[in-house]
Amino acid sequence: MQAVILVGGEGTRLRPLTYGTPKPMVPLFGVPFLERTIVRLREAGVNEVILAAGYLPQAIIDHFGDGSTVGLRVTYVLEKAPLGTAGALRNVADRLTGAFFVLNGDVLTSLDLRAMLAYHNDKGGEGVIHAIRVDDPSAFGCLVHDGTGRIARFVEKPPRAEAPTDEINAGTYLLERSVLDRIPSGRAVSIERETFPELLAAGGRLYAYTTDDYWLDVGRPEQYVQAHSDVLDGKLVLPSSHHASSGTVFAVPSPQAPPNLHPPAFVGAGVTIDPSAVVGPYAIVGDGCRIGAGAHVRNSILWDGVAIEAGAQVSDAILASNVTVGKGAIVRAGAVIGHDASIAAGRVLEPQARIAAGD
Ligand code: GDD
Ligand code: MG
Repeated sequence: MQAVILVGGEGTRLRPLTYGTPKPMVPLFGVPFLERTIVRLREAGVNEVILAAGYLPQAIIDHFGDGSTVGLRVTYVLEKAPLGTAGALRNVADRLTGAFFVLNGDVLTSLDLRAMLAYHNDKGGEGVIHAIRVDDPSAFGCLVHDGTGRIARFVEKPPRAEAPTDEINAGTYLLERSVLDRIPSGRAVSIERETFPELLAAGGRLYAYTTDDYWLDVGRPEQYVQAHSDVLDGKLVLPSSHHASSGTVFAVPSPQAPPNLHPPAFVGAGVTIDPSAVVGPYAIVGDGCRIGAGAHVRNSILWDGVAIEAGAQVSDAILASNVTVGKGAIVRAGAVIGHDASIAAGRVLEPQARIAAGD
């Protein structure tokens, strides 16, 4: 079984994190997000993953190579200019031998891929789209289907008041090769705005596979933070095989946690925390971070090598690799700081600040 993962997006909504790190390589508990997705595919019986990439692909290639470290074959097809979500599939058509999975690269879910395959074999259509119910469908593709699951309409990102349903495209497809024949080559094509609507209008059969699995698109800062708190809260259990990181999860309660570490929290390898600093709850501290005397870090995600100097306060923020927060500085309320940036001593960031190196 083969799977194509769409990882060519620029990750605009996660900037400045994605200036230096492509969205699929953004860490979840110290492990690149995409690694967990690939392990999940392997555990479902997929033996080849084709990565349709384009934006900062080298970081992805350097990490996964031929796939031997993740236990399946990984190949890459790079787009010189983005081909869109369907154009990217058309671009890999000559590598696909039968029905195949397609995954949006930024989705965190507990979906059972084998059960979805069985559903597809039962329905016998051209494809199946995983569907989830959400409160606000306006940021997603809406799926209108009948009682048998057969999809009548696909409406991408409707205004909230016009959304025809609360069931949305959850970004995992199982498609027959015949779908590829419907995608024009040589230009950018959107599967959501062109291919699916056109296939349905032509009488093609697509089915919704609606589940109540854990599901989150981590492509925005709030959701990226939520993914971590959901795991710490036990709403999503990451299988132990997905814990490739050498860090430690401190659940609630954690009798072994030092008194200044307030669970739930995650602490990577080689971290130094001053005894007078306070870390947690909901702190994710990457490998090699240093937290100085009297500093506070809570409800925040620190990638590797971040330095929080004495008396600094970090709350509700995301700090990419090697960020330095100077003495007494305050980083708060939705701030997102790009890799290698320095926050000067005493500086107080505005809520929702976006700071890249050199700012
Ligand atoms: N190779 C390639 N080329 N990949 C692309 C391209 C491209 O031109 N454009 C986007 N992608 C990848 C992104 O990297 C991401 O993994 C995936 O396609 C979806 O793109 P997003 O930019 O994250 O789309 P979205 O979140 O706004 O909406 C999509 O996902 C929703 C579920 O999370 C749509 O598929 C919606 O219908 C869906 O509900
Ligand atoms: Mg997305």
